[in-house]
Amino acid sequence: MIFYDEQTKIFYLESKGLTYAFSVSEGIPEHLWFGARIARDNLHFTRGWGANGFDAELPGQFCRNHLAAEVPTYARGDYREPMLSCRGEAGEPVCELRYVRHHISDSHAVTGMPSTYGGQTLELTVEDPVKGMEATLFYTVFEDAPSVTRFARISNTGKGMLKLERAYSFSFDLPGNQYDVLSLFGAWARERMPERTPVRHGVTSIDSKRGSSSAVLNPFLGILARGTSETSGDAYGVSLVYSSSFRLLAEGTQSGRTRVCGGINDFGFSEQLAPGEGFDTPEVVLAYSGEGIGGMSRALHDTFRSHLIPPAAVASPRPIVINNWEATFFAFDYEKLFAIIDSSAGRGIDTFVLDDGWFGTRDNDRSGLGDWFINRTKLPQGLTPIIDRCHERGLKFGLWFEPEMVNPDSDLYRAHPDWAVHVPGYEPMLCRHQLMLDLTRGEVRDYVVNAVTAILDTNEIDYVKWDSNRNLTEMYSESLPAGSQGAFAHRWVLGLYDICRRIISSHPSVFFEGCSGGGARFDPAMLAFFPQIWTSDDTDAGMRTRIQYGTSIVYPLSAMSCHVSACPNHQVGRMSTFETRAAVAHLGATGYELNTSHLPQEELDKIPAQTAEYRRMEPLVQSGDLYRLSDPFTSSDFAFLLVAKDRSLAHLTLIRQMTEANEEGFFLRMQGLDPDAVYFIEETGERLHGSTLMQVGIRIRGMRDFGIFIRHFTRQ
Ligand code: GLA
Repeated sequence: MIFYDEQTKIFYLESKGLTYAFSVSEGIPEHLWFGARIARDNLHFTRGWGANGFDAELPGQFCRNHLAAEVPTYARGDYREPMLSCRGEAGEPVCELRYVRHHISDSHAVTGMPSTYGGQTLELTVEDPVKGMEATLFYTVFEDAPSVTRFARISNTGKGMLKLERAYSFSFDLPGNQYDVLSLFGAWARERMPERTPVRHGVTSIDSKRGSSSAVLNPFLGILARGTSETSGDAYGVSLVYSSSFRLLAEGTQSGRTRVCGGINDFGFSEQLAPGEGFDTPEVVLAYSGEGIGGMSRALHDTFRSHLIPPAAVASPRPIVINNWEATFFAFDYEKLFAIIDSSAGRGIDTFVLDDGWFGTRDNDRSGLGDWFINRTKLPQGLTPIIDRCHERGLKFGLWFEPEMVNPDSDLYRAHPDWAVHVPGYEPMLCRHQLMLDLTRGEVRDYVVNAVTAILDTNEIDYVKWDSNRNLTEMYSESLPAGSQGAFAHRWVLGLYDICRRIISSHPSVFFEGCSGGGARFDPAMLAFFPQIWTSDDTDAGMRTRIQYGTSIVYPLSAMSCHVSACPNHQVGRMSTFETRAAVAHLGATGYELNTSHLPQEELDKIPAQTAEYRRMEPLVQSGDLYRLSDPFTSSDFAFLLVAKDRSLAHLTLIRQMTEANEEGFFLRMQGLDPDAVYFIEETGERLHGSTLMQVGIRIRGMRDFGIFIRHFTRQ
């Protein structure tokens, strides 16, 4: 809950297990504490004014460079990274924001952007009357999740124009400088690889300038007290609810503190605000755990599952799909699709998804995007025969779209070349032979919404895969005034959120899955629309252990769409057994992505048991606590333990990468079980105490390359 101590002028923001505290005693909000829950005590002794022994209170003596400001601004003596930078009409950069009022409420919403729901929110308003600017800082706390969220609403309350040059979402200063930064880097088909580097003096930052959260660096920054491990130590998880260009940073400073701040990337950014206009920053989730990186992940997972992902999808069974992409790519006809449908039916797979290639003149990736009408050359009778076939065989039907894009070789582009993002006089940059639609324009958004809706409303569609296969270039729209061109990427993503909201909210019975050339737009803002996101175009079981391990650092397993595909694997050529591929795909929203009509009978016969096993463990995938027992980046084993919240059930999946001959084996220690309870291990018939399983562990030996070791635990 949120508590304000009138006497000391300290705000205590308390979420499950944590305290975030700041004071406003000098008018300027000063950060005091973010970490484990502490008593509501007088924290003034932690204040940093005039650090290094100078008298803090002597007028003219203190230096803002030591102040742990909640909203650090530029050009007032704080030489570290500011949260806000804003020029007045004369170009002056000074901004002096002082407390004016606060208000506590039970709801919050970021204008035009997805945000968390629930919790209790503090709205604290600071103003600069000289400049004519107000900023309201929103802080939300949750009783059931160890995180606080923040965003800021900036308003022009004066008579002249304001030019925002940096509008980050948050800033806080941690005591000391002994921290590491944990980030997730990647590329197409190898997304979200963890990387840990020490915070040094100066700035360590990660960013995207692509107009997308991107596969290259996820909008996440872990701040780990030096020495923090997977299971112990202070770990802060900073996760931005945003899908466009971002920057997150940690700065080791001369005052011996570490500043952490970030939000919309200010590279190339500016936005003008006329009198009366406002600007919301995206929301950031700030999670904390004293139980290491694993605890931080669980804090983020709980926050996303309880306060971000559409509630209807959080715990309800997900579709188990058969997707035709890797089975046929663009080369399909009714016959091939019917064969896949027929061979998949009756085996626990419940939805057939027709991927790219069903529309326009889409026979390869050079044409058709934007033309959301059926490809009659390929499918002369339209989608109906496919949908009927699905229904006759007891399957639902899903369809692929890429609504944000256009191929130059399309009717849409020929009719409206100006609807693609471009700068007059320059040839727009192609990527995958396609351009991006200018979603800052209302008529373009209306076209996309109407075109997608027309297909959804005239066919029985239960599932949509929403793809996006390139990033922004040009960063310009003829429809925007010159003073707002610097906010193009931001305004574009507001346009994306608008079409997502309009299409998705008007089709409540359709399940929407996100995708972006694999998992290149895997961020919390997308999760607010799409309960699950295609994790990667790399479907190899071995690589997937790494990708899913890295992704799980921030995102719950239920958010990761994971499919069993054919071997040799399409992307890396690796061989692994059908069982191993299924075991990896079961650690997320599972499905299949292969030609079932080409599978040997013995593999087809295994699908019913695989889908039944998934349905059985699905409650743990969706709502359980994740314990990462073994790291595939630093050992030859990947091991995830999923434990029910009430600790009555647990599921262990271990996958060996490269094995050794003459191996002694080892004991793998469980975590998160009830130490005093006895657990029945289904595979061996053993009954062991939780304490034994967690202290001594389970013996692992005799593993083969890419072999699996699975155990089901039931509390007796
Ligand atoms: C992207 C997706 C794939 C598939 C193709 C279709 O790469 O990640 O799953 O849908 O597009 O073009």
